[in-house]
Amino acid sequence: MFQKKKTIVIGNWKMHGSVQNNEVFLEELLSTMEDISSGDYECGIAIPSIYLFQFSSRSDLGSFHLGAQNVAQWSDFGAYTGEINAKMLLEFDCKFSIVGHSERRKYFEETNEIVATKANHLLDCGIVPLVCVGEDQQERENDAAVEFVTQQVEQICSLIGPEKIKKCIFAYEPIWAIGSGKVAAESDIKEMHEVLRNFLESFIDENAAHDIPLLYGGSVSDKNVISIVQTENVDGVLVGGASVSMETFGKLLQNVSGNHQ
Ligand code: PGA
Repeated sequence: MFQKKKTIVIGNWKMHGSVQNNEVFLEELLSTMEDISSGDYECGIAIPSIYLFQFSSRSDLGSFHLGAQNVAQWSDFGAYTGEINAKMLLEFDCKFSIVGHSERRKYFEETNEIVATKANHLLDCGIVPLVCVGEDQQERENDAAVEFVTQQVEQICSLIGPEKIKKCIFAYEPIWAIGSGKVAAESDIKEMHEVLRNFLESFIDENAAHDIPLLYGGSVSDKNVISIVQTENVDGVLVGGASVSMETFGKLLQNVSGNHQ
């Protein structure tokens, strides 16, 4: 799954959803995906874990990938009230999990060490970590974005190691672009994705680095998705706001698959 030959579209529902709305969403999503089944894309949504059972209990998910938004930094069962470990996610068909989203870094003080620990636990369970990195407004204005993101990736990669890193996906999400409607300039996306690719090439070998999907996230919509995914070294998108309703997510998927309606 998530081969970079196809355009990867991953939704991040954040704290959204309800049992009733999820049913409607899922019906619409599966029928849209059936309509555009010939499209060269792969689709997944990171949903709140409380809904994983609702989704995984269906037998008709087809090629749609179910994902989580977070995982515990502890792998063993134990006295960690409120936490959900990777083994639990696996039981509910969870194929990938976001780690290191800027909202988790901000509100839950997740460091690069914690992000790498979580990624390692996911990998041990065969779940793909979707590792998020990205600079804030200040770093961008100070011309320090490349340096900051490089440091994040270097630190996380060295803690995960060159073998296991090949099974990860990365998302470059400039913090100032998330939920703001201000998508990053194409030239900035291109530059940062090249930086990420070059770093991975130096960390592992060139071919393996080329196979690691690099996504862009931050105010992606059905309107701007095409130019983003056509940018060099961009293998897909991580979509927040536009993924919570099929009105926008459906259009976005159709645009990506080249099937405009
Ligand atoms: P956004 O969120 O698409 O609403 O900007 C992206 C994300 O936070 O992953």
